[in-house]
Amino acid sequence: AFTPRVFSGIQPSGDLHLGNYLGAIRRFVPLQDTHETLYCVVDMHAITVWQEPEALRRATREVAAAFIAAGIDPKRSIIFNQSQVAEHAELAWVFNCIARIGWMNRMTQFKDKAGKNSENVSLGLLAYPSLMAADILLYKATQVPVGDDQKQHLELTRDIAAKFNNDYAQTIKALGLGGDTGEFFPMTDPLIAGPATRIMSLRDGTKKMSKSDPSDQSRISLLDDADAIAKKIRRATTDPAELPETVEGLAGRPEADNLVGIYAALSDRSKPEVLAEFGGKGWGVFKPALADLAVSVLSPMSTRMRELLDDPETIDGVLRDGGARARAIAAPIMDEVRRIVGF
Ligand code: ADP
Ligand code: NA
Repeated sequence: AFTPRVFSGIQPSGDLHLGNYLGAIRRFVPLQDTHETLYCVVDMHAITVWQEPEALRRATREVAAAFIAAGIDPKRSIIFNQSQVAEHAELAWVFNCIARIGWMNRMTQFKDKAGKNSENVSLGLLAYPSLMAADILLYKATQVPVGDDQKQHLELTRDIAAKFNNDYAQTIKALGLGGDTGEFFPMTDPLIAGPATRIMSLRDGTKKMSKSDPSDQSRISLLDDADAIAKKIRRATTDPAELPETVEGLAGRPEADNLVGIYAALSDRSKPEVLAEFGGKGWGVFKPALADLAVSVLSPMSTRMRELLDDPETIDGVLRDGGARARAIAAPIMDEVRRIVGF
């Protein structure tokens, strides 16, 4: 059996937003009590699209600061950045030779990000899920808390693990590295649950809230102040009808559904509970309540993030220490992979 171990990552590729917080970062915190936890700033993923070097360095510290401000304890969790543990790249190469091009071409995130321009995006963008599989399997992580958009990539991670286990079954067995089941890598489970697995853009209820959306009005940034948060929520696109009494009434109303979901997640309530309070009321009542709630949850965090960002040496120290601890887990596993492959 595999040791229960949690891995997840966030890209330092722009403004961290409410979707990253509710769908991922917030859910990392309680797992510290029950699991060994590794939380990674995935800077090598970020450069699959162009990043200004200074902006990348700043964004890397911002993600680390968000982890700490959200309640991830650098003593109980390993907080690090991907590029400091070279084994991520090494294992990703092995996986590039396990995974099939057709698997990558089927990834909807690649299709979305490449758009019509798929011949002229980086090769790294196509291979992104293979590096993600390496991130996870380098630690034999058994659980990965992510938003719903990552579901397909997690399935691919399992496909890569299964093909590796199968292709190398003989050497895994001969070297005695397959435990009681013969599997070298685990079949990692995604942890996708709760009312906030996919937060949508504030300007368009059919698009997910994302760092890469060109409009900063589409997302609530974790560093927004109270005024900016209130303004973005006030201007959020909605239909004119009042809030329904039941969740069935949210069907076909993506913007209303999204804002109710955000309220539910921020207040640790369910959507029916939120509608029991606000059903029949108009946006003039609901939006200010949502803004107050968002500010009360986010402002202590942004204050803490700013304090941390004023002291980059401390953040860099956390990342360096985390990198060393991550490498201590990764290196022996990578050594075994090398032996299995025949290097
Ligand atoms: P982005 O898509 O904003 O660039 P990342 O790819 O770095 O963010 O994703 C980091 C984590 O945040 C992942 O677990 C992802 O599933 C989650 N996440 C990203 N956007 C959303 C969203 N709109 N709603 C819920 N979770 C999200
Ligand atoms: Na994403």
